[in-house]
Amino acid sequence: MASPVQDGAKAWDQAATGWDRNTALIRAWLAEATEAMLDAARIGPGMRVLDVAAGAGDQTIDTARRVGPAGAVLATDVAPAMVALAEANLRRAKLHWAEARIADAEALELDSAGFDAAICRLGLMFCQRPLVALRGMLGALAPGGRFAALVFSHPEANPCIAITTRIARRHAGLPVDQPPPPGSLLSLGRPGLMADLLAEAGFGDVTVQALAAPLRVPGCTEYLDFVRSAGSPIMSLLRPLSVDVQRRAWDEMAAELMQFRTACGWQGPNELLLCSGTRP
Ligand SMILES: C[S@@+](CC[C@H](N)C(=O)[O-])C[C@H]1O[C@@H](n2cnc3c(N)ncnc32)[C@H](O)[C@@H]1O
Repeated sequence: MASPVQDGAKAWDQAATGWDRNTALIRAWLAEATEAMLDAARIGPGMRVLDVAAGAGDQTIDTARRVGPAGAVLATDVAPAMVALAEANLRRAKLHWAEARIADAEALELDSAGFDAAICRLGLMFCQRPLVALRGMLGALAPGGRFAALVFSHPEANPCIAITTRIARRHAGLPVDQPPPPGSLLSLGRPGLMADLLAEAGFGDVTVQALAAPLRVPGCTEYLDFVRSAGSPIMSLLRPLSVDVQRRAWDEMAAELMQFRTACGWQGPNELLLCSGTRP
């Protein structure tokens, strides 16, 4: 039987092309939060940076541009197709001081790697054991090295994720009235949880700050297209269901998500937690 990590890697492999194809949308959605994350990790020229759960490498490119050719960036991800896309995107951007490698965030095996900083954009919540991942990233840092990550906050502040997840889980016959399970989109959003995990992992100077990150697209159809092509967690729930059931689920999602129509398009509220700490 495949482990949750293997299942997750396979699911993200299936979403990799869609995630990459949506880079412009994702980039615009996360631009401010990404800058804030790189600032929180104090990333600057000449630094060696570890990027965990890097996906197709969008934030790796920003990081590589900040550190410049005197620095180095190692992007890691559990999904081979994501790593291949990250490599291709880095080569296309001519950032030869950045590279991508397959690695499970919970088994980085980079102890004593002495990185100046580590970042993780929207990846940590997919770990079944985020504390293990945080300890691995702490261990990969040099003393005084900085860590910064973005994760989704609680369901009430991320209603589109809450709605799509609830509908997909109900159709999949899974409970919908329980706290988000480990490894799921909203699993790290409970107030106080990330600060506790960072402190327990051994980080000092821990800060957690909520950031608004609304997702703007022309209409609800475009949002659901994005979920269909890049939303691995929702697709993993729906894919095994019959075509009819899937269609009902998409119709129900569309009906509920219409509430986020605005005079100038569709705007889904999202709240991220910018979490940071220092290796003592
Ligand atoms: C939402 S995407 C974010 C990708 C990228 N950081 C970005 O913001 O564009 C989540 C990424 O986490 C990766 N991921 C999920 N579980 C992981 C794990 N256990 N170890 C490493 N990467 C993981 C997925 O393969 C996927 O690329």
